[in-house]
Amino acid sequence: MGKILAPIKNEKTSRKVHPLPVIQHDQISVRKATMDDLEQIYKVACSVGKNRKDSYHGFLIDDYASDPEYYRAMFRQAISLLDHFYVAERGKEVLGFLMAYTRRQWLEKNPNWLDEIIWHPLFDRKKTENFILVDKTAIRADLTSQGIGSRLYMRLVRDARSRGVLDIFGETVVDPIPNFASLAFRRKQHYTLAGVHYEEYGGRIVTDLVYHKSV
Ligand SMILES: CC(C)(COP(=O)(O)OP(=O)(O)OC[C@H]1O[C@@H](n2cnc3c(N)ncnc32)[C@H](O)[C@@H]1OP(=O)(O)O)[C@@H](O)C(=O)NCCC(=O)NCCS
Repeated sequence: MGKILAPIKNEKTSRKVHPLPVIQHDQISVRKATMDDLEQIYKVACSVGKNRKDSYHGFLIDDYASDPEYYRAMFRQAISLLDHFYVAERGKEVLGFLMAYTRRQWLEKNPNWLDEIIWHPLFDRKKTENFILVDKTAIRADLTSQGIGSRLYMRLVRDARSRGVLDIFGETVVDPIPNFASLAFRRKQHYTLAGVHYEEYGGRIVTDLVYHKSV
C-alpha cells in the first residue's frame, strides 16, 4: 500500500481532507499482464469505471460493478489474446493497466472501425496501415496524475517500436460527458487529432475524438 498521510485541515473550509497516497517511482515496474492479475485489474477498472462519471478525474465508459462476471470474462479474454496488455505494479499490487490491440486484433473485433471514423482533413490515412490502438488505460482512482499512466505508455511505445509499429491510436469520450483528464493526458503525450467517431453505447450516441501519435 502507498504511504497514506494523516488527514490535514483545509485552511479555507476547515474541513478535514485526506491527502492521496504518494507514489515512489523507483518502486513501480511495468510488465505484461498475466491471469494472476485478473482480479486486481478488475478492481482498478471498478475504481474509475463507475455508474457516475467524473469528467475532471477521468473515467472508463463502462460501469464495471454492474456485471462483474461479464467484465472479468472480458479482461480474462483480453489477457490471453492481446499482445499489448500491461500492468503497472508496486510489489504485488497492481496500480494501473493499459490494454491495447494490434491493427489485426482491433479490426477483428471492430471490422468497420476505419470506415466509421470521420477523418480529419489533414490526417494521412497511410498511418492506418499498421497501428496499435489503446483501448483502455486506467490508473487506480486515488493514484492518478502521478506519472503511472505515462510509464505504461512508455512501455507500449518501446514494444511498438521494437515490432516496427510507428502509429498509435486512442479514443477519448467528449460527449455526452467529456473526459477532461484523458484530453489533458493526450495533449501531454503529444497526440494529435485524427478524427471523430460516433458510436452507439447503451442506446445513446457517444462521441469520441480519435487521437494519433507517431512513435
Ligand atoms: C487518464 C489517465 C490514464 C492518465 O494517467 P495518469 O497516471 O493519471 O497520468 P500521468 O500522471 O502519467 O500524466 C499526468 C497528465 O495526465 C493528465 N491528467 C491526468 N489526470 C488528470 C486530471 N485529473 N485532471 C487533468 N489532467 C489530468 C494531465 O495532462 C497530466 O499532466 P500534468 O500532471 O503535467 O498536469 C488516468 O488519469 C486515469 O486512469 N484516469 C481515469 C480513467 C481514464 O480516464 N482513462 C482514460 C480513458 S481514454
